[in-house]
Amino acid sequence: MQVVVVGNADAQIEGLLKQPGRTVVWLGEAQAATRKPAPGDVVVIDVRGREHLPSFVAPLTSSATEVGFVLLCSKLDPGLMLEAMRVGVRECVAEPLDAQELEAAIARVTVKHRIDGAVFAFVGAKGGVGTTTTAVNVALELSQVAPKQTLLIDLHLSNGDAGLFLGEDPRFSVVDALDNAARLDQAFFGSLVVRSKGRLDLLASPDAAVAPPADSARIRTLLEFAASHYRYTVLDVPRSESAALEALDAVSRVVIVANQEVPTVRSAGRMAARLRQRYGKERVSLVITRYDPKAEIGQDDIEKTVGSRVRHLVPSDYRRAVEALNDGKPLSLDNHNSLAGAFRSIARDLAGVRSSDSPDKGTGRLFGFLGGRRN
Ligand SMILES: Nc1ncnc2c1ncn2[C@@H]1O[C@H](COP(=O)(O)OP(=O)(O)O)[C@@H](O)[C@H]1O
Ligand SMILES: [Mg+2]
Repeated sequence: MQVVVVGNADAQIEGLLKQPGRTVVWLGEAQAATRKPAPGDVVVIDVRGREHLPSFVAPLTSSATEVGFVLLCSKLDPGLMLEAMRVGVRECVAEPLDAQELEAAIARVTVKHRIDGAVFAFVGAKGGVGTTTTAVNVALELSQVAPKQTLLIDLHLSNGDAGLFLGEDPRFSVVDALDNAARLDQAFFGSLVVRSKGRLDLLASPDAAVAPPADSARIRTLLEFAASHYRYTVLDVPRSESAALEALDAVSRVVIVANQEVPTVRSAGRMAARLRQRYGKERVSLVITRYDPKAEIGQDDIEKTVGSRVRHLVPSDYRRAVEALNDGKPLSLDNHNSLAGAFRSIARDLAGVRSSDSPDKGTGRLFGFLGGRRN
């Protein structure tokens, strides 16, 4: 984080502001009129010894976006404070300057710089195909790329099991987030999520027996919030909840999860058609889980029926999948199995990392990025 101090260099202020991980930059008043602070900066304006706000302050505050301002003054003079408030300065710290007081003011005005994160939705063509398994493990893989900046949201408004897969039983849930969608901020959201394995944040489904009605507008608000605060957000989407399926506008990619059973493939076809129409062809993709190369229905049949290329195949390894579930230890945390390799390939594909960078390259044709192998 950067603190810009406008005023004459001053050893006392320098000492008060010095902190690990913080850069302190000094600007003269003349420079302040022309140099625009960056989003996320805090600007400390030293007006000690003055009774009125200098003329450079108003243009400075009005031109800045997502910047916090703190005024240093000789005393808390009501006239000066009013002038400051009028131009958008919310904090004034008076002499004698105190480190704690100054830090508290800086913390209050710090604007968390919003980011333009990516959201990936996983939705099963049928129940039990392995959607949650895939969503949780892909989220863990993404969290390796962006620890503390990856979020998994279980959008099931009751009895979702993403938390169980991670061995977590959080106190708050996605329903609390949706109930308070209008007042979501960083601090409140932080109290609803748990930091789970692999430094992945989880917003879980509640234990409640009955789900409240889902509301697309609130889900949309939640997803926008997630995208502006996390680099990657992964969603475990309930396939039978149309309000959730209608709210995926912020999503970069919707991944339909299917297997090689006829009813599932048919359902995947219907779902793909609907999602393509709603979100555009390029945003919808298909993953086959529990893939059996000897099964009667092959990859070609699935692609024809669904009208989409199969982007990834996840091999079948029931014993490992169930063990991981029972131990609450996700597959991705164990590097040496083919399932983990498949999830890593999906994560890399979603995150835009070339699959040839993958350490799994060439370890088998059952998993990994198969898009390039065909046509
Ligand atoms: N690739 C896989 N191979 C074998 N079994 C799997 C695989 N993925 C998931 N499973 C198992 O299938 C069952 C359903 O998985 P789950 O992820 O809960 O599906 P869904 O979310 O689609 O209902 C679980 O017992 C899980 O361990
Ligand atoms: Mg599930």
